[in-house]
Amino acid sequence: MHFRKGEKKDLNELVNLGYLLAKHEQNSERGIKIKNTPKTKLRSKYSKQISKSNVRFFVAEDKNNIVGFLYGDIEKAPSYLAHKKIAHMSSVFVDPKFRRRGIARKLVKLFMEWLKTNKISFLDAGVLINNTSGLHAWKSLGFKEYYVKLRKDII
Ligand SMILES: CC(C)(COP(=O)(O)OP(=O)(O)OC[C@H]1O[C@@H](n2cnc3c(N)ncnc32)[C@H](O)[C@@H]1OP(=O)(O)O)[C@@H](O)C(=O)NCCC(=O)NCCS
Repeated sequence: MHFRKGEKKDLNELVNLGYLLAKHEQNSERGIKIKNTPKTKLRSKYSKQISKSNVRFFVAEDKNNIVGFLYGDIEKAPSYLAHKKIAHMSSVFVDPKFRRRGIARKLVKLFMEWLKTNKISFLDAGVLINNTSGLHAWKSLGFKEYYVKLRKDII
């Protein structure tokens, strides 16, 4: 397994994996609709983001195929925080055939190393409450709940 920074040449594979992540999230939350995340939209988003200096994609490659990726960025922190900037891990997806082998752990480690070089103190990650595997994985990697977002159905 080879780990490296994601680049423009990886866009097709990143979009395919990002699409599988959107499908996975749709199964975890009724408010998410895959039709709102078509591959064209993902492609346009990723191609804009990938060259920004505050954004990083990291990929795991097996025999020249990308089997997992992480996408995250450094953002301006909300005004109530003491720090000016905060990191956010937006997406992580590992091909089901390659799970439970430490790929997500390594991708998060690479992202955190990059964040440290940027002197960032915190890394936030969001996960849907019904995504039990994602929630367990993040907790195993040392993430702790500090804010809970609640929703009440109206209709
Ligand atoms: C969540 C996900 C990224 C984990 O990837 P992975 O490469 O299998 O994870 P790792 O092998 O690096 O495991 C990291 C830690 O999470 C734990 N973990 C991983 N999958 C888990 C699961 N299904 N249930 C419980 N714990 C799990 C591992 O035990 C490991 O901790 P440990 O080293 O202390 O044992 C992967 O399951 C996935 O792509 N899921 C679908 C997308 C998703 O939910 N993404 C997260 C929200 S954006």
